[in-house]
Amino acid sequence: MLPSEDAILVGEELQKRFGLPYWQFALTATDANRFSIRLARHITGRPKILVFNWCYHGTVDESFITLSGGIAKARRGNIGPPVDPAVTTSVVEFNDLAALETALKNEDVACVLAEPALTNVGIVLPEPGYHAARGTLMILDETHTICAGPGGYTRAENLEPDFLVFGKPIAGGVPGAAYGFTAEIAQCITDRQNLEDCDTGGIGGTLAGNALSLAAMRATLQKVLTQDAFDRMIPMAERWTEGVAKGIADFELPWTVTRLGCRAEYLFAPETPRNGTEAHDAMDFELERFMHLYAMNRGILLTPFHNIAMPSRDCWDRRFHQGNTKSQRRTGSTRPSAVEGNCRHQPLDVAGPSVQFGPSLRSRPFLCEPCGFKTFFATPTAILCNLRGYELSCCSPQISLCLCDSVVKSVAPRMVG
Ligand SMILES: Cc1ncc(COP(=O)(O)O)c(C=O)c1O
Repeated sequence: MLPSEDAILVGEELQKRFGLPYWQFALTATDANRFSIRLARHITGRPKILVFNWCYHGTVDESFITLSGGIAKARRGNIGPPVDPAVTTSVVEFNDLAALETALKNEDVACVLAEPALTNVGIVLPEPGYHAARGTLMILDETHTICAGPGGYTRAENLEPDFLVFGKPIAGGVPGAAYGFTAEIAQCITDRQNLEDCDTGGIGGTLAGNALSLAAMRATLQKVLTQDAFDRMIPMAERWTEGVAKGIADFELPWTVTRLGCRAEYLFAPETPRNGTEAHDAMDFELERFMHLYAMNRGILLTPFHNIAMPSRDCWDRRFHQGNTKSQRRTGSTRPSAVEGNCRHQPLDVAGPSVQFGPSLRSRPFLCEPCGFKTFFATPTAILCNLRGYELSCCSPQISLCLCDSVVKSVAPRMVG
């Protein structure tokens, strides 16, 4: 597609946030990862990539690999792999510096594809200095770790990746992703490029960088994923984490809770996990299902996998609203009112205390009050939590699984115009 002016603004904003000078666009984080991997292979001439055990980077073929008794093999549930990932990929445990260095010694790894902190098996934070290890190119996938702040974990911790991938929330629910790289990488690409071959490269796509994607990215970066939003979300996540930690301590549960910026998760293990295996071993499928169902029956919908909690910028917080309004003072209610006082949100139109799990749940409409988006409980867009004093809406900038109202309002007129 021909570039729009939004590409310039978005590129400049990404430069500012992440400190990388060159940016390209894709439609999904998976594609942004795949394209970065291809470029890394192209530049280094090396065949393999390295990932961390129990990582997730979208549907990147090479990444569906796990260590089983120290042997790397295809992950269970990997549908129709084109080749055995053990051929294409090295896999080591997160935070195991010695294993990482050993795997890189063979000089056959084109790049390490890593989330700065694992987030797809619960949250596993890196130990200090872990990402300083080098020996190949590094792709940091910030698709989830953007929850650390407007410049992701990279900026928060001054990391220096060769490539940086940012998808999903970047366009507020419209398909879009970006990958950035250093000036050295850009020079290597330029040195190896033939004009005649540029349409064959396996990178890009007809709609990559289309005008709608870019307009949505611009609106999201300017209006949703802002410093102000993080300044509001991170303290809420801190408060949530403290509350959950207190609950765990009060009931003497062998669980832990970990926070990364505006995202937090509890895990069914007494110690904070250091790597993917420890986090994965702490998962308890039945207990997790039970917790989700228990919460759902009390009007709380947790995210579909493990126990992720992410306050939305538009959450209400009972502390700010308690007794704020006339009717609340009259009735003693701690629920916010949509029409009075400062609060824009009313109690969500979720089922009361007796939601049935099953087909009836699917047909029950759900209203995200901040953005007015109507959906159904069982659809993946219905990310709603109502956690003691918080209502987490589906328009959380972190997850952005539905179109945020600010993105729609800002994009639609310009698209029509
Ligand atoms: C860290 C990470 N990278 C990439 C992806 C892939 O995103 P998409 O499904 O938009 O391609 C995901 C999806 O959950 C992810 O968690």
